[in-house]
Amino acid sequence: MTLKELVLKNRSFRAYDESFTFTEEDMREFIDLARNCPTSGNQQALKFYISWERDEVDEIAKCTHWGVDRPYKGINPSGFILILQDNDIDKRMWAWWRDAGIAAQTILLRATEMGLGGLMIGSFDKKPLRDVTKLADNLKILLVVAIGKPTEKSVLEDLAEGESTLPLRDENNVTHVKKRPLDELIVKRG
Ligand SMILES: Cc1cc2nc3c(=O)[nH]c(=O)nc-3n(C[C@H](O)[C@H](O)[C@H](O)COP(=O)(O)O)c2cc1C
Repeated sequence: MTLKELVLKNRSFRAYDESFTFTEEDMREFIDLARNCPTSGNQQALKFYISWERDEVDEIAKCTHWGVDRPYKGINPSGFILILQDNDIDKRMWAWWRDAGIAAQTILLRATEMGLGGLMIGSFDKKPLRDVTKLADNLKILLVVAIGKPTEKSVLEDLAEGESTLPLRDENNVTHVKKRPLDELIVKRG
């Protein structure tokens, strides 16, 4: 797959085949890739919590909010990666948000290359998620990444004037993701 094909195939998925499983080593490989991503000032203030065991994955799922109504059993991902900021390295929140996005997209592109898929989750319940993962106090959760074998389809479409940007699921369980057209994004020279 070319990079263009990977980027277009890498959609947000919210339903997965739970019979697909990861090992600890599989999850470590995603982090081995992410650790080579660019980071502000090469500070490498990000740390990662990996989860691949079904019971814990289900508990983490309950602490997250998904863009569509979904049960928290039966269609969960096979693993979660929590992208963390290590405050003992540097506390500047504004810097590490950007690094977290770069790491997350890299992990998801690798998952797509493997025939898998995932979802970035910025909406989560901090306290319950900390309780499940028993994180040390110096680690702040920036972003949650779900990974698994998607069981749903997602198609890209141009956003028509007046349409909502919210992803829509149709009666065939296909998610329609509307993207603003190219000409709308490139600003005119002043
Ligand atoms: C930083 C970030 C945080 C996100 N947080 C959530 C979230 O909490 N829950 C969710 O269902 N989707 C979340 N998404 C996924 C977006 O809703 C999704 O990217 C958008 O609907 C466009 O779909 P696409 O990724 O297939 O292009 C997040 C995406 C990004 C980039």
